[in-house]
Amino acid sequence: MSLSRGTAAPRDAERIINVIETPTRFSTLDWGRVDLDRYPHMVTESPGPKSREIHARCTKYFKGLSEQVKLFPVVFESGEGCILRDADGNEYIDFSSGIYVATLGHCHPKISEAVAKMAGQLMNAHDFTTPIKTALMEKLAQILPGDLNGFQLYDSGTTAVEAGLRVMRAATKKNEILSCFNDYHGKTQGAVSLGHIRSFVYGAVRVPGMHMVPRPDTYRPMWTKPDGTIDTDKHIEFYDEYIDKATVHNVAGFCLEPIQGWGGTIMPPDDFFPKLRKFCDDRNLLLMADEVLTSWGRTGRYLCMEHWGVVPDIVTIGKGFGNGFPVTCVAVREPYKESFEAISASSSYGGNPMACAAALASTQVIEEENLNEWAEHLGNVAIKRMQKMKDEHPIVGDVRAKGCLLGIEMVKDRVTKQPFNEAGKLVYQKAFRKGLAWIPAGHILRLSPPIVMDEATLVRGLDIVDEAIAETEKELLG
Ligand SMILES: Cc1ncc(COP(=O)(O)O)c(C=O)c1O
Repeated sequence: MSLSRGTAAPRDAERIINVIETPTRFSTLDWGRVDLDRYPHMVTESPGPKSREIHARCTKYFKGLSEQVKLFPVVFESGEGCILRDADGNEYIDFSSGIYVATLGHCHPKISEAVAKMAGQLMNAHDFTTPIKTALMEKLAQILPGDLNGFQLYDSGTTAVEAGLRVMRAATKKNEILSCFNDYHGKTQGAVSLGHIRSFVYGAVRVPGMHMVPRPDTYRPMWTKPDGTIDTDKHIEFYDEYIDKATVHNVAGFCLEPIQGWGGTIMPPDDFFPKLRKFCDDRNLLLMADEVLTSWGRTGRYLCMEHWGVVPDIVTIGKGFGNGFPVTCVAVREPYKESFEAISASSSYGGNPMACAAALASTQVIEEENLNEWAEHLGNVAIKRMQKMKDEHPIVGDVRAKGCLLGIEMVKDRVTKQPFNEAGKLVYQKAFRKGLAWIPAGHILRLSPPIVMDEATLVRGLDIVDEAIAETEKELLG
C-alpha cells in the first residue's frame, strides 16, 4: 500500500496544527441528539443470532472477558454519537461510552478526522517533538489548574499510573505509597498493589511499601460524628496514626481516585480532598490523583479535583482524553517537572502524532462547546430522575451523580445495606435487552453516558433502567 501523495506532509507547523482546526459550524450537541421515535431500535432478541455466532468464534481464542461482556455477550459493529449498533442491526442508547472512554460520543467527526489525517501523515516519531505534540502541550498548560504544567504521554491508564508513581518516588526519594480500600489503578504490579488486589491478580502479593487505608464513603461511612454525618477528620487522624505505626516512615504520598469508578461510583464527602491536601502539605507528602476515569468532562470539569478546589501534585488523565484513541497523560506541578528526567519517562507509543491529534481535538471540542457545563447540567437532570427510582424501589439503596458519572446501588435491605448482587446482574441484563448499553459492577450499576447526550435521551435511558428495576424487584421479591 502506498502513501497517498495527495495528503503529503505540510512543511510548516501551522499547517499541521490547522489540520484539526478546520473552522466549522458543527455542533456536537446537535450531532449527539438522539431521535427517540427511532431509538433504541431492537430488531431481534439481544444478543441476536449473528452476535452469538461471531462471539462464539472469537472467544474460542480471545480469553479473559470482563463481567460487562460475560453478562451480555453482544457483538458491536459500529457507533455514532450516543448510539451503538450490533451485528444483528439492533441499535442501543449508549450509557457506557465503551468503558468511560467515548465521553464525546462514538466517532466524533472532529476527532476521527484529526486522527485519520495524522494517520496519513506521521504515525510515530518516538518522543521526538512534533508540532501537534507542541500544540497539545500548550493547550494542556493553558487549561489545567494551578501550576500543573509538566507532562508526559502514554498509551493506557495503567502505564500513566506507573509513571506517576515513579515520578512520586523520584521527586521525594521515598518509596512507600498509600492508597485506599477499593481503589482501582490498573493491572500491572505497581498499580494493582494500590487497588483491590484480590480481584485482579490471582495469587498476587502486594508490592512491599504499598499501603491501603480506608476512605470516607458518603453511603457507607466507616466513622460518623454523633449527629450521624460522616467524620472526615477521623479518617485523616487515622492516616496520621497509620503512617506513624504501620510504615517505615519513608512515605512519598497518596495515590487515589477522586471518585472510585470501578468500586461503583463511590463519592467522597466534599471536605475530604481539601483536608487530605492540607494533611499532605503538613506532612510533606505528595498527593497524586488518578483521574484516568474522572477527567476530561466526565464529571463536568477537566479534572474532578477542580470540584473541590484542590490541585494535586501529580495527576493521571485518560479514557475521555482521546475519546477512544488510546492516549493518556501524567501531569505534574512545576516543582516536580524535572523528576520526569529521573524516570526514563518515554515509551514507544506515548505522544505519537495520532494520539496527540485525538487528545487535542477532544480538548478543543470540550472547550469550544462548553461541554463541561453541559455534563454538569446532565448530572443534575440525572440525579433527579434517579432519586425518583430510589423513592419508588426499596432495592435501590443509593443513587449518585457527578456530571455524567452515575451510580445506582442495589441492596437487599435499606437499613443493613446488604449488597444485592443478583439484582444488579438482572437489572443490567434486562435493561441491555431493552436497548441500553451500560456497565455492571456487582450490586452497583454504573452509568457513563456520553456527555454530548440530550436531556430527553438521558431521561429515556434512565426510564429503561427504572423499568428493569421494577421487573427485577417483581421477579426476586414477588
Ligand atoms: C482510575 C483508573 N486508573 C487506571 C485505570 C487503568 O486504565 P487502563 O485500563 O487504560 O490501563 C483505570 C481503568 O479503568 C481507572 O479507572
